[in-house]
Amino acid sequence: MKVWVDGRLLDPDEVHISAFDHGVTVGDGVFETAKVVDGIPFALTRHLRRLARSATGLGLPAPDEALVRKGIDEIMTAEPAAGRLRITYTGGVGPLGSDRHDTPSTLVIAVGPAGAWDATTDVATVPWTRNERSAVAGLKTTSYADNVVALSYAHDRGASEAIFANTRGELCEGTGSNVFLVQAGRLITPPLSSGCLGGITRELVVEWLAVGQVDLPLSALADSDEAFLTSSTRDIQPIRAVDGRVLKAAPGPVTADAIAEFARRSGADLDP
Ligand SMILES: Cc1ncc(COP(=O)(O)O)c(C=O)c1O
Repeated sequence: MKVWVDGRLLDPDEVHISAFDHGVTVGDGVFETAKVVDGIPFALTRHLRRLARSATGLGLPAPDEALVRKGIDEIMTAEPAAGRLRITYTGGVGPLGSDRHDTPSTLVIAVGPAGAWDATTDVATVPWTRNERSAVAGLKTTSYADNVVALSYAHDRGASEAIFANTRGELCEGTGSNVFLVQAGRLITPPLSSGCLGGITRELVVEWLAVGQVDLPLSALADSDEAFLTSSTRDIQPIRAVDGRVLKAAPGPVTADAIAEFARRSGADLDP
């Protein structure tokens, strides 16, 4: 598949990114992943808004939106069958430590096939925390090593997603997903102050459905009647079991309604 790097559409083996790029050396970068529907990245305006917010949150200049959109158009024209789009924006060439040079940022746009998700998923809670007071809380940065370790821990336990609490022991999010649960028929999700990423899918579910944003103990997930994950590539995925404890239903009635409503609203407008 073609890759778009700093204004040029390239074959993968033509791509050269500096070994001193701050994204490579210290994870000084931000990214977005969007699903692509019939050649159109879903909710692109929201993704570009979050990309800019993440970049400025790191102290990087906001990316040139017109340039990013041009790159997306070019790669989608070259790869119309792609199912997902990834935009990566880094601090550019920098010193080997955490200081930054005043150098141009690096912008990479890549595509891949759509993710294939199971109808339901098992999740595992992990012994590590999200830091809701971190300098990068809520930013979608390329520093994802925490997530890599946590996801591998979940896989070792037969689960496909790892769930973090925050430093206060409250339910927070997955490595690449937000989490919702149902208690006494009420749909709830942790608030952004939990330290979770403001997921685009989470944002749409909160706008389109009646959702309470409530601080919950981590244990509330395993104790819930039903629960689901949201992310750009999976939309809404029911949770079958938490740490081996099987929930009452997957999907339960509230989750099934949420899946239907999300499909209806997202199908009617690709840039909601
Ligand atoms: C840490 C984290 N939380 C939540 C999400 C879900 O966000 P979105 O719905 O925008 O894909 C992601 C997406 O990859 C993520 O990386």
